[in-house]
Amino acid sequence: MTNLTRRQFGKTLAGTAAAAALATGSFSRMALAQVPSAKSLHFPSGFLWGCATASYQIEGAANEDGREPSIWDTFSHTPGKTFQGDTGDVADDSYHLYKEDVKLLKNLGVTGYRFSVSWSRIFPKGTGKVNEKGLSYYDRVVDELLKNNIAPYITLFHWDLPGALPGGWQSRATSHAFAGYAAYVSRRFSDRVSHFFTTNEFVCFTDLGYKSGKFAPGLKLPDAQVNQIRHHAILGHGLAVQAIRATAKSGTQIGLAENANVYVPVIETREHIEAARRATREGNAAFLTAVLEGKYTDAYLQRAGANAPKVEAGDMKAIGSPLDFVGLNVYTPEYVRASASPVGYSVERRQASYPRMASDWIYIGPEVIYWAIRNVSDIWKPRALYITENGCSADDVVNADGRIEDTDRVMYLRNHLTHLHRAASEGYPIKGYFLWSLLDNYEWADGYSKRFGVHYVDFKTQKRTPKLSAEWYREVISQNAVE
Ligand code: NOJ
Repeated sequence: MTNLTRRQFGKTLAGTAAAAALATGSFSRMALAQVPSAKSLHFPSGFLWGCATASYQIEGAANEDGREPSIWDTFSHTPGKTFQGDTGDVADDSYHLYKEDVKLLKNLGVTGYRFSVSWSRIFPKGTGKVNEKGLSYYDRVVDELLKNNIAPYITLFHWDLPGALPGGWQSRATSHAFAGYAAYVSRRFSDRVSHFFTTNEFVCFTDLGYKSGKFAPGLKLPDAQVNQIRHHAILGHGLAVQAIRATAKSGTQIGLAENANVYVPVIETREHIEAARRATREGNAAFLTAVLEGKYTDAYLQRAGANAPKVEAGDMKAIGSPLDFVGLNVYTPEYVRASASPVGYSVERRQASYPRMASDWIYIGPEVIYWAIRNVSDIWKPRALYITENGCSADDVVNADGRIEDTDRVMYLRNHLTHLHRAASEGYPIKGYFLWSLLDNYEWADGYSKRFGVHYVDFKTQKRTPKLSAEWYREVISQNAVE
């Protein structure tokens, strides 16, 4: 109760059944319903509330209407690569059930929906002949969203690279192919879609795909090649920004969705805050720093030594193409302190008792969302920022009444939004928040074993059921505030 004084609160109650109930101590359910809800943390008006998903994780219809395999189709069908051999062949079948999914969005009251386009639905071979049937699926999705007053936010690349592109991101030609595809899609949709994200989470389709091999295409290459792949990825982003600017409707807003490492100062003192800032630049040197500065840091190049990427003339200019906004996918913090080390900071090791959610990599530290925004804003001063993903997996169960009481997810979200509010109230240019995810879906190598949705999906029947977190999020959106 921070926005009402006790006296005001008393006054509001005076004369109501609730006041009487309070006085007599018999606080019935009915009286409670009349107590004004004391949401204290209001977001700026016009703040965008949304949900996010991605094509391979929800669409299914893997072989329908001319779509050809992406590297994730091949990878997930390779024995031993994903949890119990799970694939995205059917996923949430959103290809057929998209109207139902838009209804879920509508019921939540969101004003934006971030989803991705499957490249190999549009260009089955990655380049060349376009597949009209693929395009018309996204026409239907976009039109359905608009009919329901939900703004579409399109991610152009969320890891499902067309399998037909020789060498994938190992080849520089893929960066150019991506720009061509991005230009085509944005030209086609920019009459109805005003925001485009080029790529989603560089590290997941470069390092995890080509270094650890945990994600598609499942390779384990040496550092020099990985650094080159990283370079092709950010080059692809930069060339796409240029190509979209040249072809899409003028005023189209372009950014990316990046899971930058987020450094939280161990204590909020000047020296540790400074350390977090230094760590943000160096800890993201291969990706976000290069994109926002148009260069690799000296320390990154020094660390890479002979393995540094080969950069051609014009590459860094393209990579540093000005953006309209930066999107941040935020899940988990790294704690950092000032130190006498050459880089001026050190990252703290997490204790075994540090709390996590159902995925072992989601350590809970809600202040991460504030520091993500603050570090990036203080260093690079982007025009606008979005949280393009935030959410968590939880061990959801359907109880005897058919409800999913995901109080742990609500705890996670509530606390993150509290810290998001701090960033907004301090004047950082944060424009919106996309919750990951609208519904349980294909969690990549973890298959269907990890649930991130605010809607529970029965993968046998495709039945969607709102969880407690969906009810809670709807309330946040309707109040434009978090309690
Ligand atoms: C980030 C990715 O963009 C998304 O595809 C994934 O499902 C979530 N994080 C959760 O891991």
